[in-house]
Amino acid sequence: MINLYNLFYKIFYKILRLKLLTAFKVFYFVLINNVSKYPAYVNDFENLASVKFNSKYCLSFSSGTAAFYSAILSLKLQRNSNVLLSKITFPSVVRVLKFLGYNLYFFDTNEYFQPIYKKEFTEREYDLAIITHPFGFVVSPNNYNRFISEKTKLIFDCSHVHGLKYNNKNLNELADISFMSLQGQKAISGGEGGIILTNDSTYHQRMIELSHPGHNLNNFFKEFTGMSKNLKLRMHPLAAAIALTDLKNIEKKNQKLRDKIEKIYSFLSNKNNLELSGFKINETGGYHFGIPIYFKDVKNQKLNWPLVKYNWPRNYDFKNNPSHEKLYSVFDKILFIDLNWIKSNSFLYIKSKLDFIIK
Ligand SMILES: Cc1ncc(COP(=O)(O)O)c(C=O)c1O
Repeated sequence: MINLYNLFYKIFYKILRLKLLTAFKVFYFVLINNVSKYPAYVNDFENLASVKFNSKYCLSFSSGTAAFYSAILSLKLQRNSNVLLSKITFPSVVRVLKFLGYNLYFFDTNEYFQPIYKKEFTEREYDLAIITHPFGFVVSPNNYNRFISEKTKLIFDCSHVHGLKYNNKNLNELADISFMSLQGQKAISGGEGGIILTNDSTYHQRMIELSHPGHNLNNFFKEFTGMSKNLKLRMHPLAAAIALTDLKNIEKKNQKLRDKIEKIYSFLSNKNNLELSGFKINETGGYHFGIPIYFKDVKNQKLNWPLVKYNWPRNYDFKNNPSHEKLYSVFDKILFIDLNWIKSNSFLYIKSKLDFIIK
C-alpha cells in the first residue's frame, strides 16, 4: 500500500518538476536569439533577487566561485591579509583564497556546524572572515563573533541556504557581501551560475568593473568592447531564465521541505544511535545534498542508501601534511539522508525505509 502511494507521489513530483513554463521561456529566448550579454530577463532576475533577499544590489555571475572571486577582489585586501574561515568551506572557494595569497586560518566546527572556540584564534586581527552556512543551517553570529573585530569584513557563502531567514532577516543582511552558487541541485538553480548580494554601492560598482564588460549599468568601461579590470565572469543569460522559477517560489519550496524535514527529524529523534538535538530545524532553508544526522556510533552504521557521505579536504597544506587523511573532520561523524530522495518520496515511505536501515 505504501509502495503504491509512493509511486503516485514520485510520478506527481516528477511532473511538477518538469517546469514546463520555464522550458517554454528558454526555448523562446533561444528562438529569438536573445541569449547573450545582459538581456532584460537577466536584469529582472537580479532585481527580483534584490527584492526577495532585501539587498540593495544583486549581480549575476557564471558560477558561485566566480561570484566569490569578484566579491573578494572588490574588498581590495592586501596580499598578506589574514582570512578566517571554517574547515567546512567549499574547496573552490579555498582555491581562490590560496591563489590570491592570503594567510588562511581554519577553525573546526562541531557536529552542528558551529565554530569550536579556541583562544589561539583570538590572538590576531582578521581582515576578512568567510562564513559558510552549510546544508541549510545557520552558523550563529554569536559563535563566530567571538573570533573577529569590528574591522573584520564578512563574506557569507549562502549557497546552501537560499531564502533562509534568521531572526526575521535574510542571512545576507548580516554580511558585507554574500554569494550564492546556483549550480546543480541548489534550491535556486540555473544549472550553472551564481549571484552576489550587497548593500554597498562601492563593492557593487567595483564588481561590475572587475568582471562585467558591457554591463548596462554605470560601467566605467562601457564604451570599450570586452574590457574589464579582471576576468570576465558574467552569467549565461539562460541560467537566469531557468533560475527565475525557483527564485519566485523559494519561500513556498522552503516551507514545504522544512515541514517534511521537521517530520523526519522528529521521527528519528527516537533512535538510540542518533543525536539530533543540536540541529535547529525551525531556522533552516535552502538545503543542499542531504539532511545531516549525527551518529553516536557511526562506525557500526552501514552506509545503506539513502544514507550518503560527504567529504571536503581536511587540510589544504598538502605538501607538509601528507597524512591529512588522519586529521579530524566533522564529516567523520555525520552521514546525510540524500536530499533528492527525500524530495521525491512520500513521508510514509521515507519513514518505513529509515526505520528499516537505522537501528
Ligand atoms: C557551499 C558551496 N560554496 C560554493 C560552491 C561553488 O559554486 P559553483 O560550483 O557555482 O562555482 C558550491 C558548489 O556546489 C557550494 O556547495
